[in-house]
Amino acid sequence: MMGPERSVGVALEGIGKRYGSAWAVRDISLSVGAGEFLSIVGPSGCGKTTLLRLVAGFVRPDEGTVRLGEQPVNDVPVRERRVGLVFQNYALFPNMTLYENVAFGLKAQNRSATEVRRRTSDLLEMVGMADRAQSYPRQLSGGQQQRIALARALAVEPRVLLLDEPLSALDAKVRNSLRFEIKRIQRDSGITMIYVTHDQEEALSISDRVALMRKGALEQVGTPIELYSDPCSLFAADFIGVSNLLKGESDGEGGFLWKGHRFILETPVERGPASLMIRPERLFLAPEGVAGANVIEALVQGRVFLGPITRFSCNVEGEPLLLDLLNVAGAGLKVGERVRLHFEPSDSCVLQDLKETVPEGVN
Ligand SMILES: Nc1ncnc2c1ncn2[C@@H]1O[C@H](COP(=O)(O)OP(=O)(O)OP(=O)(O)O)[C@@H](O)[C@H]1O
Ligand SMILES: [Mg+2]
Repeated sequence: MMGPERSVGVALEGIGKRYGSAWAVRDISLSVGAGEFLSIVGPSGCGKTTLLRLVAGFVRPDEGTVRLGEQPVNDVPVRERRVGLVFQNYALFPNMTLYENVAFGLKAQNRSATEVRRRTSDLLEMVGMADRAQSYPRQLSGGQQQRIALARALAVEPRVLLLDEPLSALDAKVRNSLRFEIKRIQRDSGITMIYVTHDQEEALSISDRVALMRKGALEQVGTPIELYSDPCSLFAADFIGVSNLLKGESDGEGGFLWKGHRFILETPVERGPASLMIRPERLFLAPEGVAGANVIEALVQGRVFLGPITRFSCNVEGEPLLLDLLNVAGAGLKVGERVRLHFEPSDSCVLQDLKETVPEGVN
């Protein structure tokens, strides 16, 4: 429907935007490839929406250059950028049918009647709403309205589609199915999408790459697997997924010291205070009688059934430790029991969060 040649990449080069004396975003350099699906995640107030508004053109950067394709667009007004937007509140025209909502932008572009008809029908089909073309927005559920908002944004063939928490008002089940639909539409249409979400799980599940923001700056940009398995900082480890962070010390000789243990690391890390990250699913029950460096004795204090896995909250000399076991493995494990856990050196990651000591310059 839309050839990939119509979509363009986005480049942010040294972007900064200030409100008063506070930087909403600062020193952002990021390239999004044509046809790429990039998610932006981060805590509330970290600058996600501001970044989208800079790309759309509602906000002008105080520093740096925004490019669409090769073209610098700092001075190009919103409507000439040909960037589509979908927001959290669907903002459909209440007095127009769904068909008219989707056709609106096409008519505004003076497309021929035949083309408006064809394209509107195609788009309603694509978002699975063809049979509701003559309904009004108020007759739809939130998820259905969001489908129409998506169709309306895509109708005018934007070169980039920006989505700001488009699913956050919807319940988990609808959100789940719509996110994969958005992904499918992105793949089929080849359009560049930048997708803002609070939901890191959502970002990991549908993105080519994820950009994690913190206080107006980029903390880490990478594939979902990179962010999950190789976080660059304590903040990243904590924000993406669930992690155990053991605060201890690297001895500089391949060991990590924590509560009288000396864990073996995959590769030695410079001596000094650090945290060892172990994902809960990377801890296993140690076989009976096996001794080894990377063994932890823990007391099981609670268990939560999470469907495919059970999550155990354990205690190691006063420190909490989470353990995820497939239900078959965890079936016999009871609260109050003592367990011996082990992990592979390659499944842990030492984090020396240098950024933690940088003085706060934003927000
Ligand atoms: N128009 C504005 N005037 C003044 N300050 C603003 C304006 N827009 C945003 N800010 C500030 O810039 C910072 C970033 O805001 P932004 O809306 O980009 O955050 P966000 O990451 O989208 O947050 P959320 O997840 O809550 O939507 C915040 O500190 C916010 O208060
Ligand atoms: Mg926002």
